[in-house]
Amino acid sequence: MNINFKELANKYQTPYYVYDFDHITNQYEELKGAFRARKSLIAYAVKANSNLSVIKHLANLGAGADCVSIGEVKRALKVGIPAYKIIFSGVGKIDDEIRQALELDILMINVESDAELQRVEIIAKELGKVARISIRVNPNIDPKTHPYISTGLHENKFGVDIDTAKRMYIQCKNSENLDPVGIHCHIGSQLTQLQPIKESVKIIADLVRNLKAIKIELSFMDIGGGLGIVYKDETLIDTNEYAQSVLETMFGLDITVVCEPGRFMVGNAGTFVTKVLYEKVNGNKRFVIVDGAMNDLIRPSLYNAYHRIEVLNDNKEFSDCNLVGPVCESGDFFAKNIELPKTEHNDLVAIYSAGAYGFTMASNYNTRGKVAEIAIENGKDRLIRRRETFEDIIALEEEFIK
Ligand code: LLP
Repeated sequence: MNINFKELANKYQTPYYVYDFDHITNQYEELKGAFRARKSLIAYAVKANSNLSVIKHLANLGAGADCVSIGEVKRALKVGIPAYKIIFSGVGKIDDEIRQALELDILMINVESDAELQRVEIIAKELGKVARISIRVNPNIDPKTHPYISTGLHENKFGVDIDTAKRMYIQCKNSENLDPVGIHCHIGSQLTQLQPIKESVKIIADLVRNLKAIKIELSFMDIGGGLGIVYKDETLIDTNEYAQSVLETMFGLDITVVCEPGRFMVGNAGTFVTKVLYEKVNGNKRFVIVDGAMNDLIRPSLYNAYHRIEVLNDNKEFSDCNLVGPVCESGDFFAKNIELPKTEHNDLVAIYSAGAYGFTMASNYNTRGKVAEIAIENGKDRLIRRRETFEDIIALEEEFIK
């Protein structure tokens, strides 16, 4: 990726996110190719980056969508992902979301509890529909990642245990309004070890075979997302080995493999670019203050996440500092105790690997408008979301002032 950040800053101002769409294409093709031995559906996890143009790009490549709200489902439909490639997951679906998902006739609803299954059945009955169901199994496997993004242990709120899942499948089979079509598991995000994935996929494949023996035949085996990316120096899971070890578990089954990558698709396509406002020294601590902040990219503050950072100037005089934003919280930092060169007002700073869970986790904290998003495709840049103005931010409140 060779992007002229300076030119983009002149054209669109800062801060901004820029995404390399060609990188997204390569990531999609790599994963799709790895599963070529089977029928597969790559259902992009929209939560990672839900910009309509990003989803559209993936739609054009043939991707489906893994959604966790009806809003995400509508985003996917809006840019042309066909309903039959859309999955709706999430531990807390609202009745109205279930109703809309059924009316929109999406591929399947990924059910995460017994209680939810009862709700789906009631709503499907009211609508006179048959709900296609997938059940999220919690395999109780430690994915060995950050605890906030680990989901596959019984202590996490996600999915149901194997015995509950079996009961739920039988209930589906006996219901006129439920059709069991899929099984799902997702053990966590930013995974860099294959073993836990292998173990959990084996658990669900065994369950699929057990169900087949009692005449419950599933069509989709959804292995979740979670493939890690390089932020620093991580050794990654090889996509071919990943696909191979998944496919190996599926012997004797005529089933479509589904996976739901988010970060893998867009993480390293994105860079957050901000500019230096000031430098200051408190005691003997140096601070570089930039115009971007935790409300734009919260991963460092929230997870202590590492993002590679580069100041785009030629200064060779490096020293230790904290790179911070203007928000009134000590937690507003991009990096602490990092060696950066001496900066001048308006120097640009690139924060890499910011394409996933960057913009989608942004807020208007401190009445800061969400930043612009830019796409680069075939060497050409285009705006894909304009910067929010003050008027945008107050638009939903203004009429209520008394
Ligand atoms: N499928 C399910 C059911 C998920 O819960 C997730 C992510 C994915 C797929 C996509 O996972 P990925 O391929 O992107 O790892 N905000 C955090 C990450 C939260 C992930 C939540 N679930 C971060 O910034 O690291």
